[in-house]
Amino acid sequence: MKTNLDSNYWQNRYEELQTGWDLGAVSPPLKAYFQQLSNKELKLLVPGCGNAYEAEYLWQNGFRNVFVADLAEAPLAALKARIPDFPEAQLLHQDFFLLQDTFDLIIEQTFFCAIEPRIRPDYAIKAFELLKPGGKLVGLLFNTEFPQAGPPFGGTENEYRTYFEPFFHFRTFATATNSIKPRAGKELFMILERKGI
Ligand SMILES: C[S@@+](CC[C@H](N)C(=O)[O-])C[C@H]1O[C@@H](n2cnc3c(N)ncnc32)[C@H](O)[C@@H]1O
Repeated sequence: MKTNLDSNYWQNRYEELQTGWDLGAVSPPLKAYFQQLSNKELKLLVPGCGNAYEAEYLWQNGFRNVFVADLAEAPLAALKARIPDFPEAQLLHQDFFLLQDTFDLIIEQTFFCAIEPRIRPDYAIKAFELLKPGGKLVGLLFNTEFPQAGPPFGGTENEYRTYFEPFFHFRTFATATNSIKPRAGKELFMILERKGI
């Protein structure tokens, strides 16, 4: 197993086209969620965005305050090539855990499963810190174990609750009904609202 999941590791995965996670399109549960958002002014972050189809969908649907962050340069360059107007200042070639800003929404799509499980508690804390009061962490978490060594790293609903419950109100945390076929029944859709003022 590769344990040093640093920027070189991820950049190499893109250069070697070892990107089995990449859907090539916005994830259907997130697309459905985005379609019912009416406030186009929302400031959104997609961390571990990869090729960032979620950000692309949002941008094409009028959301202009979309920020993406990734340790790997290659997928950020690919997003820029697809959307030349996407502002440089919103393309963050940075470590999620070191970001300093605040957002209304953080979007999770196969980023949580890509980090080492020992830093999952830090993910919950960082998401809390990056959200404005009342802000939401929205997206998908695998509710399954994988036979091979990670990434991706699997987990269970009960495990995830222990990380998020201190910081978030659980608005939705249930098996997604509109996953892509290979992930059907294996991912939770979450809408977690940041606690506190
Ligand atoms: C499994 S991929 C998922 C990419 C994208 N969300 C998707 O679904 O196609 C995980 C992504 O997280 C990025 N990543 C891993 N650790 C990161 C970190 N600490 N900060 C920012 N990005 C990170 C990797 O470079 C990679 O693009």
